[in-house]
Amino acid sequence: MSGTLDRGPYGTTRSGERVESLTLARPALRVRIITFGARVTELHVPDRRGRMRDVVLGFSDLSGYESSDAYFGATIGRYANRIAGGRFSLDGRDYRLARNEGEHHLHGGVRGFDRRVWRVAREGPDASEGVTLSLTSPAGEEGYPGTVRASVRYRLPAADELRIDYEATTDEATVVNMTHHSYLNLAGEGSGATGAHRLTIAADRFTPVGEGSIPTGELARVEGTPFDFRRPRPIAVDSQRDHPQIRQVGGYDHNWVLSSDGMRPLAHAATLAEPSSGRTVEVWTTEPGLQFYGGNALDGSALGKSGVPYGRGHGIALEPQHFPDSPNRPAFPSTVLRPGEVLRSATVLRFGTSAPEEG
Ligand code: BGC
Repeated sequence: MSGTLDRGPYGTTRSGERVESLTLARPALRVRIITFGARVTELHVPDRRGRMRDVVLGFSDLSGYESSDAYFGATIGRYANRIAGGRFSLDGRDYRLARNEGEHHLHGGVRGFDRRVWRVAREGPDASEGVTLSLTSPAGEEGYPGTVRASVRYRLPAADELRIDYEATTDEATVVNMTHHSYLNLAGEGSGATGAHRLTIAADRFTPVGEGSIPTGELARVEGTPFDFRRPRPIAVDSQRDHPQIRQVGGYDHNWVLSSDGMRPLAHAATLAEPSSGRTVEVWTTEPGLQFYGGNALDGSALGKSGVPYGRGHGIALEPQHFPDSPNRPAFPSTVLRPGEVLRSATVLRFGTSAPEEG
């Protein structure tokens, strides 16, 4: 047996659905998950002196999550990120999706997977086996074809590792692209801006965007641009402000190309490191893309779980996923799921610490 698993009631949604909480714990890693949106609400890891802190943004209760549109800690589906104009064609048929971001579709629509109450399909017996949450998304939900059965499993397979596995099947051709949407602040949630965090992204291209943050279709080189994170560097640097792509969306909110061929074996995608606490996290994934979102829309109106307002950049999201608007971009890796196929995707967050910097 490795680690513990605790299960208990968390709250009741406005529409009267009961939400549960599941906590997986090992000596130096503790994660709390709720069935509302299969969300991570707490993630505690040690700094270089062994002091544990919660490194994800979130709220103190269910009503916080129900009121917010920031997707804190959520499982996103059916389709993470944007689908242009809320429409796509598949096998000669046109589909119209919910338009919840201007004229575009974002993160699965008005009531995406992040707002559904998931079922606990399997649990334990310990933290290393973890918990599997599942849901059925009926045909027509938010405009999508096909009834999709989706699951997400959270577990702590090693002392320093949170692993998230996704599965999905469908009874009719559809598109699926799930991701995890925790906002990280390795100094601890509620401790202010993340600009000094050092980020590495293992990608030499990204997908530039145009109007409405929709990819132009180009896979642009990062070299010589503020999108070059091939070597670790602080997220916030003055020289990046005037880049047209940064201006276009008001900060970092782009997809990096980890692979242009679709799903692959689990590989290193990014590393985030916070110099003063020494906390680090490596993101590994089977997904071909990584959205780095700088928390640009946080404006201080949301009060976090420790009572501190979350302002711009107080947490950042590193979201392994397929590229935005893939259903309308045949050259991007496909997000089509057909009957008889099983979509499998995995993301691992591996925590550690770094030595203090010299000087
Ligand atoms: C998107 C942002 C969006 C945010 C909402 C991110 O995944 O890339 O554009 O504003 O989610 O929380």
